Amino acid sequence: MTVRTSVKILLLGLGHVGQAAGEILAEKGDWIRRRYGLSTEIIGVADSSGIVFDGNGRGIDVERAINAKRRSGRVSEYGKDEGLRLAGTSELEVVLDETQPDVLVDVSSNDEAFSWHVAALERGVAVVTSNKPPVALHYKELITLSRRNETPYLFEATVMAGTPIIALLRRALLGDTVTGIRAVLNATTTFILTMMENGANMDEAVKKAREMGILERDPRKDLDGIDAGYKAAILHDVAFGPIEFERVDVTGISGLREEDVRGRNVRLVASIEDGRAEVRPIDLPDGHPLAVTGTENAALIETDLLGELLIKGAGGGARETASGVVSDIIEASLSLRA
Ligand SMILES: NC(=O)c1ccc[n+]([C@@H]2O[C@H](COP(=O)([O-])OP(=O)(O)OC[C@H]3O[C@@H](n4cnc5c(N)ncnc54)[C@H](OP(=O)(O)O)[C@@H]3O)[C@@H](O)[C@H]2O)c1
Repeated sequence: MTVRTSVKILLLGLGHVGQAAGEILAEKGDWIRRRYGLSTEIIGVADSSGIVFDGNGRGIDVERAINAKRRSGRVSEYGKDEGLRLAGTSELEVVLDETQPDVLVDVSSNDEAFSWHVAALERGVAVVTSNKPPVALHYKELITLSRRNETPYLFEATVMAGTPIIALLRRALLGDTVTGIRAVLNATTTFILTMMENGANMDEAVKKAREMGILERDPRKDLDGIDAGYKAAILHDVAFGPIEFERVDVTGISGLREEDVRGRNVRLVASIEDGRAEVRPIDLPDGHPLAVTGTENAALIETDLLGELLIKGAGGGARETASGVVSDIIEASLSLRA
């Protein structure tokens, strides 16, 4: 098979992760060319103000787009300055047909992005995403479509940011039967629980998390365990096969009192076995490998042949998440036919 030497990318979402991914592709473009023989070109970018693209399918200057976004808050301002075309994100299908990208990168916070992923896969456009709800809620349909159209669907950064737990479960351990996974997958609840361990009450800890910008726009996604539940569903999908999100049994941390947490090692733990996924706060023994702090995530994977395997690393952060996104872009690109 002749592999691609250049790929066109449409980047949806220009927040923390989208800006970091755009910057990394620009900064490391020469390195990626030398190492993989691949040149990447961003042909359009989007935020909630719309999709900005060149009508002739040519590359745009992503660094200038990011600077304009930082200055004005709207990527459409960049489009105006540079005389580029602007379309609403509801017109994505038209933009895909006009610009014909090879890879759609969804690093938006759009919970309804499932239809974007379908539109891309139906056209043979690879999808790379860090956006959890489409994967957690529609894995079976998306992976079926991806296989039917022989088009990559990659989502490393949806769980543990760039720490490669998805790659590990999908592409290593091929002769092992995974028997169970236990993992701490939501860094915001770790931060809140650690503050409470040291004497803060829930309101103080939540306020601090909000001030630091680490709380989701809808705080229930962190506090009620929904974000961790999405990630548990995705790990189940990859390790054991599709699970309906409704079957993930989720208990968050909102019901915990200070006395449940003070002086202990309580963490929001996802426990996954074949046919079962659960998220709930657990008081871990001192020194337990899942008793992580800060923005670290950790997962203990148990298999029949290897026994227990620990994977631990960044669970968030713009460049740490973009690490997974860029890795998936390169993987998807290298599997496309010339
Ligand atoms: N940050 C992390 O550590 C991390 C880790 C793992 C996964 N993720 C996931 O990665 C994604 C991006 O995270 P982030 O931290 O970069 O979020 P963010 O800073 O809030 O950025 C989200 C971006 O999505 C855009 N967006 C939202 N709805 C849209 C729509 N309907 N059409 C077009 N653009 C839309 C926003 O536009 P505006 O700028 O106009 O609002 C913004 O540019 C999220 O799904 C998040 O859950 C993040």
